Amino acid sequence: MKSLANKNILLGVTGGIAAYKSAEIVRHLKKSGASVRVVMTKSAEEFITPLTLQALSGNRVSTELLDTESEAAMGHIELAKWADGILIAPATANTIARLSSGRGDDLLSTVTLAFDGPISLAPAMNQAMWRDNRTQDNLNKLLTQDFGICGPGSGEQACGDTGLGRMLEPLEILEIFSSSFDKGVLSGKNVLITAGPTQEPIDPVRFITNRSSGKMGYSLAHAAIEQGAQVTLISGPVNIEPPSNCNVIAINTAKEMSDAVKHHIKEMDVYIGTAAVSDYSPAEVKDSKIKKAGDNSSMILELKENEDILKFVSELEDRPYVVGFAAETDKLIENAENKLKHKKLDLIVANDVSDKSIGFDSEENEVTLITKEEKQLLKKQNKKKISKKIIEFISGRINEQNN
Ligand code: C5P
Repeated sequence: MKSLANKNILLGVTGGIAAYKSAEIVRHLKKSGASVRVVMTKSAEEFITPLTLQALSGNRVSTELLDTESEAAMGHIELAKWADGILIAPATANTIARLSSGRGDDLLSTVTLAFDGPISLAPAMNQAMWRDNRTQDNLNKLLTQDFGICGPGSGEQACGDTGLGRMLEPLEILEIFSSSFDKGVLSGKNVLITAGPTQEPIDPVRFITNRSSGKMGYSLAHAAIEQGAQVTLISGPVNIEPPSNCNVIAINTAKEMSDAVKHHIKEMDVYIGTAAVSDYSPAEVKDSKIKKAGDNSSMILELKENEDILKFVSELEDRPYVVGFAAETDKLIENAENKLKHKKLDLIVANDVSDKSIGFDSEENEVTLITKEEKQLLKKQNKKKISKKIIEFISGRINEQNN
């Protein structure tokens, strides 16, 4: 198992016969350098005493949500803030069901709600309970919310049955759990992301813009940061909080975006252009507000083409891995493939914006990743998950290039 030195690990113990193995988990966690606090459910206390886990962890075991004494020591919010990771071993069918429905009716479930970090479950239950559709549905829901899972294993069970459902051995669990703290596949890489719309002024009060919300770019920034990258986010005006641990540069116009990209591109390993850069901007920006003629005549606004930032980046001599987005309303793949070629990209993410349930401003997206060699469809799912997969795809390709 990987070292957990200096990590604060909260071990949740729930009521299954495998709870006797939790004592050994605490011992191994301590041996690998972690500080350990244990939270037990009421039924876990039927299988193993808090005193055992307290003696091994060196910390008082917490059992009650509404207990003035324990809240005074370390309440649910403090525990959630203290922990770097939560491991629930054993995780019973009941606990999995309660976590999946977002219950906060005991200390352990409440801590997991208040916690924002990796949570892993080591399921332990009878094989029929494990196979039951309700358990599987509950688990799948948690897995799509980025809970980790260690096991279960297969074999003879305490009840005499044989099958899947027994808790993995402590060291097997910790092997999987400790890898959830890996530094990330983009560790040490610099990633530049453009996001959101641009605004091209016509006069002091009007501008040309588009419907880009910035959600895709921002969620890619989060995903790249999660994988250890140093992210610079050049963003048009959007209504989203940027990630706290990245360099955000706010711009309005395509020209400002282009200048900012040129300023930062040199040190970058990856460039991802998700921004909906305005293709044209007014040839002349009026100093004062344009007045209507009032004679039913039409008005002609002359536009000039803006620089293609993506093309500029891909034509650099010492270029990063270049990723573009193709938001199309028709001939999605054909248009995206043309763009891949014409703009000399390493990867294009093709996105059908005629479908209102995906793309601009929606929470979900369905995209096709296209490179010279391959096409990969990422079926409709939330932008967070799509982003994670895009980042994993990119890191796979840049690691291949480096080998
Ligand atoms: O050609 P089209 O505008 O559809 O290409 C979209 C891709 O090109 C996006 O990745 C977008 O960020 C980028 N782009 C750019 N500069 C422009 C126009 C688009 O970088 N002026």
